[in-house]
Amino acid sequence: MTRTTKSNFASHAGFNSPWNPSGDRSGDRLGDRSDNASIQNKRRNFLKSAAATGAIATTLPLSSALASAFSAQSGNESASSTEGAYAGPQLNIGIIGVGSRGAGIASVLNDVPGMKVSAICDTLDFRLQAAKAYIKHEGYKSYTDFRQLLDDKGIDAVVIASPFSMHANMAKAAAQAGKAIYCEKTLSYGIDETRELAKAVSSSGVIFQTGHQHRNSPLVQQVRNYVRDGYLGKVIKIESQWNRNNNWRRTVPDPALERQINWRMYREYSGGLAAELCSHQIDFVNWITDSHPTRVMGMGGIDYWKDGRETYDNVNILTEYDTGLKASYTSLTSNTKDHRRMTLLGDKGSIVMYDDKAYVYSETRPEDLAGAVVDGVSGATMKAWQQQKGVAIDADGQDSTAYALAAFRDAIVEQKQPISSLKSGAQTAVVVQMALDAMDSGNTQHWRKDYDFV
Ligand SMILES: NC(=O)c1ccc[n+]([C@@H]2O[C@H](COP(=O)([O-])OP(=O)(O)OC[C@H]3O[C@@H](n4cnc5c(N)ncnc54)[C@H](O)[C@@H]3O)[C@@H](O)[C@H]2O)c1
Repeated sequence: MTRTTKSNFASHAGFNSPWNPSGDRSGDRLGDRSDNASIQNKRRNFLKSAAATGAIATTLPLSSALASAFSAQSGNESASSTEGAYAGPQLNIGIIGVGSRGAGIASVLNDVPGMKVSAICDTLDFRLQAAKAYIKHEGYKSYTDFRQLLDDKGIDAVVIASPFSMHANMAKAAAQAGKAIYCEKTLSYGIDETRELAKAVSSSGVIFQTGHQHRNSPLVQQVRNYVRDGYLGKVIKIESQWNRNNNWRRTVPDPALERQINWRMYREYSGGLAAELCSHQIDFVNWITDSHPTRVMGMGGIDYWKDGRETYDNVNILTEYDTGLKASYTSLTSNTKDHRRMTLLGDKGSIVMYDDKAYVYSETRPEDLAGAVVDGVSGATMKAWQQQKGVAIDADGQDSTAYALAAFRDAIVEQKQPISSLKSGAQTAVVVQMALDAMDSGNTQHWRKDYDFV
C-alpha cells in the first residue's frame, strides 16, 4: 500500500464524493450489465440525498413512550470508521471476475478514497474489454489467470466476483498469497468447501470480508438496532421474499460459452436463487439474532421455466432459531410484486423492509394513542400512526456496496475483521447448503456441532 494525500471521503452523514452503484442491484436483479448504467444515475441521486439530509438520524416514533428512545439511537455501526476525510494509505485492489458484479464493484471503487483498481482478471477477453468502461483508474493491469494476479506483489487486496463454485479455491489461494480478501456471497459452495476455506483463511490471518453488503447499509443497521433493542417486542416470525419476473438467462454470444455465462442455471456452479438471493436475507436474520438456525426445511422446484435449467425457480425455505424464531424465504422468477421485502413481526410492532426503504408499524390501536403526549412526533406522522400507516425509517438504504467497500478498506487499514466476516459468511453458506439439501431431499436439516468450525 502507498500513502495518499488527504481526500474528500466524508462521513456517512454527508458523502461528497461521487459514489457509484451498488452491484447488488446489477448482478442480482438481472445479471445484466445494462443495470450498471442505471445504477450510476442512482448514485447521483444518492449524492443529492446524502447532501440534503446531512445526517443519518432516527426520527421514528413508535409510540409516545418510544419516540424519545428512538431519537437517541445512533443506528450506524460503521459510521465511526468513515467519519471525516480519509487520510490513510492507498490500497491497490485486484478484481477477479469482471462480469456484472465485478464491473459494478470496479465502478464503485472509482470513488472510494484510498482504493485503486490496479488489476483485473477474467478468462473472457470480452469481459476484460467491457470492464474498461467502468474503471476510471489508470494504469491497471489485465490478467487472464487469477494466480498471476495473486503473484503481483503490488496488489494489497482482492475482490472475488467469480461464479459461486469458484469462490473457495480463489479465496484460499488469495489467503495463501497474503492478500486481504473481499469475497462475494454466497461465500462458498457446500459445507466441506466452506470448512476448508475457513481453516485456510483463519490460519493465514488475512483480513476477510464476505460480500453480504447489506450489513453495512445504515438502513439495515437501523432495522437491526430496533429489533435488538426490543422496540418491536418479541419477534417470533420474519417473512422474506426476493422475487422477480424474468427468466434469469443471459444472451450467449457463442454456444460453447453457455455454461460459463449462464452458470446460475447449472448446479455444478450455482446454488440458484437460494445462494444468489435468499442468502442475503438469511445472513440478515443470522445477524439480528447473532446466531444461526438450528433446523432448516425447504421445498423447491423448476416449475415455471422448462428450459433445461437445473436450479430451482420456485424456492421456499423455512428456518428455525433456538429462540423459536421462524424465518421464511421465498424466491421466484415469475412474479415481481414487491420484489424484495422482509417483514419482521413482533408483538409490539412490525417492520417492513423493501429494497432501500423500511417502514415501522405499531401494534398499538389508535384508541390507545388518544390523548397521549407525544414528544418529537410531527402532526403528520402522528396522524399516519393513528391511521395505522407505516412510518418510514430515516436512514440511508442505498449504495450498500459503497458502504461495504469503505468498511473493507477501513478493516485493512485498522487491521480488524469486518462486520461481514469470514465467520458470518461461512455460517450463511452452511445454511444455504442446508436449504439446498432440504429442498433436494424433502428432509429437515439440523445444524450439527461440527458446523461450528469458525
Ligand atoms: N453482493 C451482491 O449483491 C451480488 C450481486 C451480484 C452478484 N454477486 C455475486 O458475484 C459473483 C459474480 O456474479 P456475476 O453476476 O458478476 O457473474 P458474471 O457471470 O457476470 O461474472 C463472473 C465473471 O467471472 C469470470 N470468470 C469465470 N471463471 C474465471 C476464472 N477462472 N478467473 C477469472 N474470472 C473468471 C467470468 O468470465 C465472468 O466474467 C457471484 O458469486 C454472485 O453471487 C453478488
